[in-house]
Amino acid sequence: MRSEIFGVTISAINETPPKNGIIQKLNYPEIFYIIFNMKEKVVRFSVSVYPELLKKFDAFVKEKGFPNRSEAFRALLKRELVEEEWRIEERETIGVLTIVYDHHKSDIVNKLVDTQHHFHPRIITTLHIHLDEDNCVEAIFIRGEVKEIREVEKAITSIKGIKFENLALATTGKEIP
Ligand code: NI
Repeated sequence: MRSEIFGVTISAINETPPKNGIIQKLNYPEIFYIIFNMKEKVVRFSVSVYPELLKKFDAFVKEKGFPNRSEAFRALLKRELVEEEWRIEERETIGVLTIVYDHHKSDIVNKLVDTQHHFHPRIITTLHIHLDEDNCVEAIFIRGEVKEIREVEKAITSIKGIKFENLALATTGKEIP
């Protein structure tokens, strides 16, 4: 089975990828084996979309700098799977909470330290950057079940004086191939 992706004919999906699999050129000039750096074999399937949607997808692929549609599709799929992971309250995962605050305001620094000590095993590490005379940005890496991460998020973001907050959904990677 072959399919066209950016003018390159892709086949040989049933072959076992080489150890550091990248692109292998065959004898035929027009055929390349594109094998991704994966432990498992790649499975090929086709998706039917309306031309307009495909046009938008191609623009997205270009805009984001993906080398091809497959890479872009995989990235979108994984993002969606991570979001799905976050819908399961008992699933262990990783969250990165970013906050910006003025360290002069009220008792914010002490409250932050107290809260982080309180949730200590769940908070893996914290990255703190002094932005200027007043402002700090902090990235707090939290590991635990989704509900526990949400609990830490709530405790931190409810501290008075935080100007910005954003919880990025990451993953331990265990459930994502
Ligand atoms: Ni600071």
